[in-house]
Amino acid sequence: MAHIKPFTLLLCWFVAATSVVQADTPFELTWSDKTYGPDGPWQAVSVSIGTGAAQTVPLYPGGRWSTYIMLTDICDDKNLTVSCDPDSSSLVSIEKLDTITNITEPNNWDDYEYSSVPSVYQSAIFYDSMNIGYGTSVPNVSMSGVYHAYQTFPGGLVAPVTVGILSMGAPTLNHQWKETMTFITSYMYTDGGARKTPSYSYGMHIGSAALGISGSIYLGGYDKSRLVGEISTQSFTPYGSAPGGNLEIGMTDVGLGVGTGGSPWAYDHKDCLLSKSNSSMDVPITVEVNPEKPYLYLPQSTCDAITAELPVTFNSSLGLYFWDTKDDAYTRITSSAAYLSFTFEKDMTEDANTTIKVPFALLNLTLEDPLVNQSTTYFPCYPVNSSYSLGRAFLQAAFVGENFGNGNGNGIWYLGQAPGPGAAKKDVTSIGLSDNNLPASSSTWEDTWNGYWHPLPGGDDPSSSTGTTSSNSSTSHTAAGDSGLSTGAKAGIGVGCGAAGIILIAAIAGVLLIRRRRAAAAAQAANANSKPIQMGDHTTRQLRPQELEAKPAEGQMPVEVPADSIRYELG
Ligand SMILES: *[C@@H]1O[C@H](CO)[C@@H](O)[C@H](O)[C@H]1NC(C)=O
Ligand SMILES: *[C@@H]1O[C@H](CO)[C@@H](O)[C@H](O)[C@H]1NC(C)=O
Ligand SMILES: *[C@@H]1O[C@H](CO)[C@@H](O)[C@H](O)[C@H]1NC(C)=O
Ligand SMILES: *[C@@H]1O[C@H](CO)[C@@H](O)[C@H](O)[C@H]1NC(C)=O
Ligand SMILES: *[C@@H]1O[C@H](CO)[C@@H](O)[C@H](O)[C@H]1NC(C)=O
Ligand SMILES: *[C@@H]1O[C@H](CO)[C@@H](O)[C@H](O)[C@H]1NC(C)=O
Ligand SMILES: *[C@@H]1O[C@H](CO)[C@@H](O)[C@H](O)[C@H]1NC(C)=O
Ligand SMILES: *[C@@H]1O[C@H](CO)[C@@H](O)[C@H](O)[C@H]1NC(C)=O
Ligand SMILES: *[C@@H]1O[C@H](CO)[C@@H](O)[C@H](O)[C@H]1NC(C)=O
Ligand SMILES: *[C@@H]1O[C@H](CO)[C@@H](O)[C@H](O)[C@H]1NC(C)=O
Repeated sequence: MAHIKPFTLLLCWFVAATSVVQADTPFELTWSDKTYGPDGPWQAVSVSIGTGAAQTVPLYPGGRWSTYIMLTDICDDKNLTVSCDPDSSSLVSIEKLDTITNITEPNNWDDYEYSSVPSVYQSAIFYDSMNIGYGTSVPNVSMSGVYHAYQTFPGGLVAPVTVGILSMGAPTLNHQWKETMTFITSYMYTDGGARKTPSYSYGMHIGSAALGISGSIYLGGYDKSRLVGEISTQSFTPYGSAPGGNLEIGMTDVGLGVGTGGSPWAYDHKDCLLSKSNSSMDVPITVEVNPEKPYLYLPQSTCDAITAELPVTFNSSLGLYFWDTKDDAYTRITSSAAYLSFTFEKDMTEDANTTIKVPFALLNLTLEDPLVNQSTTYFPCYPVNSSYSLGRAFLQAAFVGENFGNGNGNGIWYLGQAPGPGAAKKDVTSIGLSDNNLPASSSTWEDTWNGYWHPLPGGDDPSSSTGTTSSNSSTSHTAAGDSGLSTGAKAGIGVGCGAAGIILIAAIAGVLLIRRRRAAAAAQAANANSKPIQMGDHTTRQLRPQELEAKPAEGQMPVEVPADSIRYELG
């Protein structure tokens, strides 16, 4: 080709430049190239604090209000019973922050909510610039410099908290706390200049370090490929009691299942683990989604019900379950398409559920020094008596986002299924100021795991057979060889864990069982007749008065938060 006329070039430049300026686009945060433990590996966002002698620091994204910066002083705490490295790249030296403004005297000791296990901390509020990448420096970001933070495990081990928390905003545009400070998410929406974002919101999937699923966070938008399946929308309580939490949702069940192929268990699917063996539990239970915390913080009875199906041993010193890696069932469960499912009230109503599946491959996490002397794989159920929450272990498989609207104290948050390692191509999409519905990728969840999980031989077509069994699981190790009721079915209808559901399941399971056995040997076919009776016995045993009672109708919850008038829900 010959010469391109200068005018044409100029026109092209003009069109390109104006289109960049005109359309507000989501802003992508940058992830650290390192991963963090000692109970991960976890991925963290990388930002720089200060100008001049700026310090780059990894932070777990997902907090509210102040960003928590862990200071080198943390390692000086004499209460620690394990070693602490003040040169760790996750700690910041406050003396070197020359642009720091209005640092207060350290506050009194308080409970720290952003750690693995109960913790205390002492910090000071300040503000400074934060460089969030692409040459973008946000001034006057509200921060909390943490001088002391240590967490005490059940057996008495006292470990430092070494990775801070990146605030993703708050239900206001600014943080008024003696001074006017800001948040990166609100600043990019109100003052982001050429990189201004379409809304005061974010969408994130933290991914998995172990499985090579990179983290993804956009301010003012999200990557559509990180959402596979319908989004659930909840309004949040702006000034709830937990400083960083508030992403509350009603959880109705926990179950086991298999995405494709054979099952590592003697059944294809098992539901009703949330309330199993706990007659005082009234489902749904309220759980918080907490990107700042690592584990699945669930009632003891729920952890018991889940781990009864897994080759794990409870370590009471750490309060966690260690995988028995020598057991064949460990490999079958963690490398196959087996998953742990969490069912929630979709859109804050009792009328619909939404389920997020977390493959056991993601629940094969690693404890490292200083919590253990030798790397140990663990299953992240952590029994608690209150404040149930789902941390990063869960969020490896979940998409979460928040929309703070115009910062007047109201907002909505989003929860959906995130993909596996084979997500579709990145597809950055804006979140509008009042978007109630985020479109998902056209990939199915199974697509994004195909080629990464190793389905076990056998198994039914997963779409034709899902269901509920309540097998006798008094043994703590359930290998494929164990006998038990093989398959129930619910054929796409919402079935509860109570009596009616079980009777219905028994009926359907009986039919299915006979159908499935039809092709089997004559001896086995004869045997099949006994199965529904066994199921019937089971049903009788499970009937409890409180399960027969109709659940009292609760106050009407909004199905949707109205688009342009997100209300502040009082109480
Ligand atoms: C240990 O922690 C307590 C607060 O729980 C604090 O008062 C004390 O100063 C700490 N000790 C040291 C040596 O840091
Ligand atoms: C910081 O705090 C001091 C004392 O409270 C106050 O006088 C000053 O205006 C504040 N702001 C800045 C930017 O220093
Ligand atoms: C940041 O705070 C200083 C006062 O410390 C103020 O002068 C300045 O205008 C603020 N910048 C922005 C962008 O709000
Ligand atoms: C049973 O559930 C109730 C209500 O959620 C809870 O307080 C209790 O701790 C649970 N019991 C056990 C053993 O987990
Ligand atoms: C828990 O694990 C740690 C680290 O491997 C070990 O030192 C401790 O003895 C274990 N505690 C129990 C109660 O098994
Ligand atoms: C489980 O994690 C360990 C590292 O802690 C790894 O070596 C192993 O391959 C993982 N297992 C599976 C099935 O992914
Ligand atoms: C690691 O080993 C040392 C020396 O045997 C011991 O003092 C320490 O308690 C162990 N740490 C853990 C977390 O088990
Ligand atoms: C939970 O409650 C049980 C029974 O009351 C108690 O034994 C246990 O110590 C409590 N656990 C925690 C972490 O408080
Ligand atoms: C499970 O089976 C064993 C052995 O047959 C029996 O002793 C136990 O009572 C059964 N448990 C339940 C919960 O049915
Ligand atoms: C939601 O799930 C729970 C627990 O499995 C069940 O009891 C309830 O009937 C389900 N609701 C709908 C609408 O399917």
